Amino acid sequence: MHETMKLVCRECGETSGASEPVWRCTCGGLLDLEFKPQFPKRAVSRREPGMWRYREALPVENDVNIVSFGEGLTPLVKVEFGGRSVLAKLEFLFPTGSFKDRGASVLVSKAKELGIKRVVEDSSGNAGAAIAAYCARAGIACDIYVPESTSPAKLAQIAAYGAKLHRVPGTREDCAHAARRAAGRTYYASHVWNPFFFHGTKTFAFEMVEQLGWEAPDAIVLPVGNGTLLLGTYIGLKELQKAGVIQKLPKLIGVQARNCAPLHEAWNQNADSTHVKRRRSTAAEGIAIAEPVRGDQILEAVRNTGGAFVSVTEAEIRAGLKEAAQAGLLIEPSSATAVAAVRKAALPRGTVIVPLTGHGLKSAK
Ligand SMILES: Cc1ncc(COP(=O)(O)O)c(C=O)c1O
Ligand SMILES: [Zn+2]
Repeated sequence: MHETMKLVCRECGETSGASEPVWRCTCGGLLDLEFKPQFPKRAVSRREPGMWRYREALPVENDVNIVSFGEGLTPLVKVEFGGRSVLAKLEFLFPTGSFKDRGASVLVSKAKELGIKRVVEDSSGNAGAAIAAYCARAGIACDIYVPESTSPAKLAQIAAYGAKLHRVPGTREDCAHAARRAAGRTYYASHVWNPFFFHGTKTFAFEMVEQLGWEAPDAIVLPVGNGTLLLGTYIGLKELQKAGVIQKLPKLIGVQARNCAPLHEAWNQNADSTHVKRRRSTAAEGIAIAEPVRGDQILEAVRNTGGAFVSVTEAEIRAGLKEAAQAGLLIEPSSATAVAAVRKAALPRGTVIVPLTGHGLKSAK
């Protein structure tokens, strides 16, 4: 179906076919996935609602391998945040309560297609829950590594799906190192390293553009930690642009928590990559990433769209959470960073999209 699909190393440029169970280059570099998607708009709009309606743009060869719950095509609703009218895309309305299901659906489908029986993943919670749920549906065993400090509701959720949960003391990076050691022996279903995850999160862009009548918005304000939503959105937009579906790219406005904002700090210094930064604790646990593996790629994507970064304080996150809840939208703190950023960022005129990425019940106290 996708004859031209290939994996390309970001370090050495080496290419390989996408039918091998690899998640990084032999040189250790990060891999990107390249192929030529198609968007038969008329046919797409007649299909069942859900992210798999963009079938010709998703890198799974055979339909029998698709692992799905019929998820996606989340509502786009008009709301007012910080006195500004925006369109919120309700990304917490997924089977596991966050947009990470987009990435998990494609990645676990690919793992199934490759005949993989066991995977390893590390996460601050939501990506782990998504991989665990989709592995349960696929009958694939999984080991999920999480920082010891992860919210109790997320730990319970991951364990409930039947995943083997490993709670790692220390930082989010200590947790990633533990998973990578374990992944030496199995398949690393990492939402950060594995390029198939990003080819699931890109469906956020496809849906948004279709819901706007196959037009691009003017800006998207989105929380960023490891950039799975931001880079997925960027990949999706570039694919739509290349295919001639949209002409311009919307500005991507990346939002970080002030207490852990390596990308915003790099941006302010006009740097191409992040440096390990001091980190203080933040309620936005999902985006508390001090060392984003794809940091340079995220900075480049934001730069290419004429976008920017902003960071928000803990008080602003609490205010964003309250503002969303009082508009009837119960979200988690990582998600509320984007709500708070609407009043802080310099936004263009026109259509502004704010994905609400994670369900508030996950962090309810
Ligand atoms: C609720 C929520 N929003 C946003 C993000 C940001 O995603 P990323 O780290 O891929 O940039 C996450 C990541 O875990 C999350 O859990
Ligand atoms: Zn390489």
